[in-house]
Amino acid sequence: MHENPIGIFDSGVGGLSVLKELRKHLPDESIHYLADSGNCPYGSKTKDEALRLAKKSIEFLLKLDCKLIVIACNTVTAVAIDDFRSAYQIPFIGMEPALKPAALQTRTKKIGVLATENTFNGRLFKETFMKYAEGIEVFIQPGHGLVELVEQGNQDSAAARDLLEQYLVPMLEKGVDTLVLGCTHYPFLTNVIREIAGDAVTIIDPSGAVAAHTRRVLAQFDLLTRKTHEPCFNFYTTGDRARVQKHISDMINCPCTIQQIKL
Ligand code: DGL
Repeated sequence: MHENPIGIFDSGVGGLSVLKELRKHLPDESIHYLADSGNCPYGSKTKDEALRLAKKSIEFLLKLDCKLIVIACNTVTAVAIDDFRSAYQIPFIGMEPALKPAALQTRTKKIGVLATENTFNGRLFKETFMKYAEGIEVFIQPGHGLVELVEQGNQDSAAARDLLEQYLVPMLEKGVDTLVLGCTHYPFLTNVIREIAGDAVTIIDPSGAVAAHTRRVLAQFDLLTRKTHEPCFNFYTTGDRARVQKHISDMINCPCTIQQIKL
């Protein structure tokens, strides 16, 4: 079991931002990454539909003998992680809305959160909000259209800038000094976000914390690999292979396989 791969699942390429951090914390682990880009975005689908689609992807990763699965998607974590944890034996790691670090860092006591509608509607966001947002004003903004732009490789386009200005300027005008990226696709938009928000705003991406947590869980279950040679990276997409290839080669500078699949 130690040498089995880690599975990573996202509705698309967003989870590559988590993969990048996982590689820093777990450089010897092999990884199977599944992007359900053919069905992306999940953020505005009904909860039942998002759950049904995510389940198919998880079963695909389980057939590849993954020893642990990282749900590198805030939306799928919100709609499905409780079901996965009770249905399957292996550990699941999800994306936690990063309100806690934001609450600790804000000086103006005003935080902005950018995420999908399904993430805002989930139990996890509501619970985290109740726990950490006391005495803090939280401005929530669904990022409609942003995931699609990242999937298309248009994260630095004028369209991305227009949407982000529309979403961020109102919260910045209200005095937000800390911005939580509540969707794993949004770190791809950091350059444009930084241009709009300026250097004084703290941008919080929870990927590093999730990667560190994954390492702790693997250690706790005695699942860390014992090998120290080159790990394998295998990518699967239900969408267009060429489209994900560019994103992957930007993140992974070592040999990997990319396959287009049907679930
Ligand atoms: N990367 C997903 C997330 O973190 C994207 C959601 C979607 O498919 O809309 O929420």
